[in-house]
Amino acid sequence: MSYRPKLSSTSPERFGEKEKQKKRAKAAKRVLTGKASETIAENETIRLNKYISRSGICSRRDADELIKEGKVKVNGIVVTEMGHQVLPTDKVQVNDNYVQPENFVYVLLNKPGNTITTTEDEKGRNTVMDLVEEYTGHRLYPVGRLDRNTTGLLLLTNDGDLANRLMHPSYSVTKVYEATCDRILNDDELKQLVKGVELEDGIAKAVKAERHEEVPNIVILSVHEGRNHLVKRLIASLGAEVIRLKRTQYAILYIDKLRSGRWRYLKAFEVNKLRTSVKLPEMKFTKG
Ligand code: URA
Repeated sequence: MSYRPKLSSTSPERFGEKEKQKKRAKAAKRVLTGKASETIAENETIRLNKYISRSGICSRRDADELIKEGKVKVNGIVVTEMGHQVLPTDKVQVNDNYVQPENFVYVLLNKPGNTITTTEDEKGRNTVMDLVEEYTGHRLYPVGRLDRNTTGLLLLTNDGDLANRLMHPSYSVTKVYEATCDRILNDDELKQLVKGVELEDGIAKAVKAERHEEVPNIVILSVHEGRNHLVKRLIASLGAEVIRLKRTQYAILYIDKLRSGRWRYLKAFEVNKLRTSVKLPEMKFTKG
């Protein structure tokens, strides 16, 4: 016999609604404790590019470009001066849309298969960002991209400076993948991956290539580059094929026991480790 809750003053519909409310309140709490915020005092001026990047739409460098191109207005007047200072009370527009600094949010998602990592999908399909945006209330952007069928660790954030630096080749961020191949790769082939192989867009190499101890047709590959389909192309250069691909590590972050489709906020120390690893200052955190 299946369990049915007793109907008292709480009808099933109302019960469901209450549960949803509780879940939402819990999620809201998690957002507050997980958000990093650099409080801007009311009378404190900040550089215009920082104000724009703090609104989560782009990095400071991209904000500089927008300013140069005359796409930014402060209190209705176009400002093209680099280093222009604004007050939190000033009204800033980018491409005529008002922007406002918001707290940074950092999310680690275990991306499920059959989901795409672009922020907008022209065919209207669900993107992984939809999964978390609904709960966090923030537009977050993926740091790098994973193919539709690649699963595993994906970092999402509205901290444009951090995202840009993590994706920049000069910071050599380590990414670790478990690639299930259609055959076992031999030792020479693994060494070849580390030595470098010729791809259509130039030589590429893995930092490390090892066979999985228990499942020999799984190769554990560490790479620093972020070229599109890199792992699949590295393996294809040996005449083998990747049949499943999962990212288990990104910089200092590990997927660990996070289940597929689940996500969590980064901890303060993780955010600061990531930021300092790419030479950005640490963030102050507020607890909700
Ligand atoms: N390499 C690939 O081939 N695909 C990914 O999604 C990531 C790295």
